[in-house]
Parts: sequence; structure tokens; C-alpha cells
Amino acid sequence: MAIPTIHVGCTHFALGRLQALVNCEGLSPVACVDINLAEAREGVASLEGDVPEGLGERIYTTITAARERHGAEACLIYASTPVHAQLVVESLNLGMHTLCVKPIATTSEEFREIIKTHKAHPDLVLVQGQNKRWNPAASKMREWLRGADGIGEMLGGECRFWIRQNLWRADNSRYPDSYVEGIFFHAATAHQLDQLVAAKGLPKYVTARIHQREDREIAQTGVWGTAGAQALLEYPNGAPFCYTGTNASHANPFGWSGHWTFLGEDGDIRRDAGHLQLFRKGECVEECQLQDLHPGLVEDDRLQFDAFAAAISTGKDRKWLQESTLGTWILMEACIASARSSTRVDVESMSAELMDV
Ligand SMILES: NC(=O)c1ccc[n+]([C@@H]2O[C@H](COP(=O)([O-])OP(=O)(O)OC[C@H]3O[C@@H](n4cnc5c(N)ncnc54)[C@H](O)[C@@H]3O)[C@@H](O)[C@H]2O)c1
Repeated sequence: MAIPTIHVGCTHFALGRLQALVNCEGLSPVACVDINLAEAREGVASLEGDVPEGLGERIYTTITAARERHGAEACLIYASTPVHAQLVVESLNLGMHTLCVKPIATTSEEFREIIKTHKAHPDLVLVQGQNKRWNPAASKMREWLRGADGIGEMLGGECRFWIRQNLWRADNSRYPDSYVEGIFFHAATAHQLDQLVAAKGLPKYVTARIHQREDREIAQTGVWGTAGAQALLEYPNGAPFCYTGTNASHANPFGWSGHWTFLGEDGDIRRDAGHLQLFRKGECVEECQLQDLHPGLVEDDRLQFDAFAAAISTGKDRKWLQESTLGTWILMEACIASARSSTRVDVESMSAELMDV
């Protein structure tokens, strides 16, 4: 039976996630939450497919009000970034399995508060939503990185990502991605490096730097750490991984998935978005063109929500899902710490410190 679920956020990007919730099998929406009731009602009325009857009459302004009236067991949080942490804490304290879109928190203090709350409710599944690891192309890359028929031990790799993202809203305000300091790592880099963490876990060290680009046309007003960044990750076996990313540049054919290269003991991978090649001894031994990010990302989130539901109801991949998505948050925070201090940061120590609350 589908898990009764509260959905927070019913407009803009969040509305597409509500559609993904309607489309998925493992979770079922029983109530919605949004501080903007009028627009939320319009959003719910526009949903397609198997929408539960009367959902439009079950929209509340707080998670607590929704939970009091409906026996939900899970909560999906897609409200604006600055309120994520407080909503995650509220949801966990109400006894619900919680998935909150990245970034789950915008400061270390917020993250610690979340971990502290989660430790008081260890049976609840807590996931930082990362929708770009689920499509078939990303899954294939992970299989080649982890599986017996892949590249074996990773010796090194790189990811390059660039797009041109307009962060002005229609009303001339800016998305938080353009004014929260250091957010480029959590908002953009996380999309790519989450796929690495999902496959190879956390690196031991990171050294990161930011690009200070200004371009008012796309809301890059010079706020520290919002335009782009580079990072060198060092894995426990010594393998280096290089990342270069910007959302303040030009459009490119590889979009949010970027271009990847991995070198391993038994083979190498090349990926350009949905195009993947596996090489051994100079020969391309496997090549495929797979579905990469789906338009609107609704299908990507449907896959994610079904994985979250399986982790709750059967325990499938629960540890991996929880640890790797929260691990991505820690890695992004380590990137910010490194870029701010111009030092190499020990990710293992930072992780231990953030989780020890
Ligand atoms: N993973 C991805 O691919 C991806 C892509 C785009 C956006 N996002 C993230 O998704 C989130 C939602 O994006 P958006 O553009 O829809 O944001 P938004 O700012 O438009 O907020 C979505 C909704 O949340 C509501 N809201 C704000 N504060 C609230 C609160 N305290 N309680 C309940 N509802 C509240 C707003 O009224 C709005 O209707 C953001 O965190 C954004 O960064 C993720």
C-alpha cells in the first residue's frame, strides 16, 4: 500500500514534484502545505493523472496543521531554500520519514540541528533530495563505477559542468541561489558530485575555490560563491577527482549532467550527459545512449520518490540513500570551508564533527 504523504510546496518547481508524487507508486499525497494558499490551490487544480479526490481541499499553511488532520507517515519538502531546515526538524518531530530537496540546510548550525533531531528519531528515514542520480544514464555510470563489470578501482576522474542560469524571478526578485553566500556548491555542484558520492562515497580531502563572476542580466551580482567553482577531491586510495562548474557561463549540450571522465584499474569511462562509453585496453567495449534528465525532471523525481518509499517500507538501500545524500551535503559544506579559508579540508574529520551532536 502506498505510504500516506504530506507534500510541502505547491507552486513553481515544487509543483512539478507534487505531480511526481501523484505519478509514483510507493507514496500517496494525503495533504499539501504552502504559505501561499491561493496559488497552491491553483497548482493542485492543475495536476494531471490519478490525483486523490479532494486533495485541493486539504491544503494547509503548516506541516503541523496538516499532520494533525491526516495520518501521514512521510513528508516531502520542496519549499523555498531558506526554510528547509526548520521544516525538516518540524517534520521529523511529528514522526514522519522526511525527504527534503537539496540543500537540506544552508549552514552547519542548521545541519547539526537536523542531525540532532534525527538522532532522537533513528527509525525515521531522512534523505536529502537529489534527483539527478536516478535517470538511466546516471544509474549506468554508477553501475560501471561500482560493479564487477566496470572500471575496477578508481584511479582518477573529472567532471565539467556549465550552463547559463537566469536567477531572476518574474517579479524581479532573485532566487536564493543568487544571494546565499557559497550556495553554488549546495545548489549546483551538488547535482553532479552527488552522483560521485552515490557511487564512490566521500573523498578524504577537498580543496576548492570559487569564481567571482558578475553578470546582472542573470542575477549574478557578485555575492560570494554563487557563480561557479572548482574543486580537487582526494579519495582514501589517493585517487584525485577534479570538478569545474559554473551556472554563469554559456549553454552547453551536456546541461546539468555535465561531461565526465573516469580512469580505473580495469577500464575507463567517458560520459557526455546521456552518452556513455566504457573502454578497456584502448577499445570501446560498451557504448550506450540512455535517458538523461527528463524534461521538467518530473520523471527523475518519480524514480527518487519510489526509491524513498522502498527504503521506508522494505529497507531497500536505506543506509546508502540516507548516508550518501547527507554525505553530499557535508562534501558541499567542506567545499565552502575550503574556498573560504584557501586550505585543504579534511572531509572525514568534518563529517565526524557534523554528525557528532
Ligand atoms: N533538485 C532540483 O533539480 C531543483 C530544481 C529547482 C529548484 N530546486 C529547489 O526546490 C525548492 C523549491 O523551488 P521553487 O522554485 O518551487 O521555490 P519557491 O521559492 O517558489 O517555493 C516553493 C513554494 O514554497 C512555499 N513556501 C515558502 N515558505 C514556506 C513555508 N515556510 N512553508 C510552506 N511553504 C512555503 C512558497 O509559497 C512556494 O509556493 C528550492 O529549494 C529550490 O532550490 C531543486
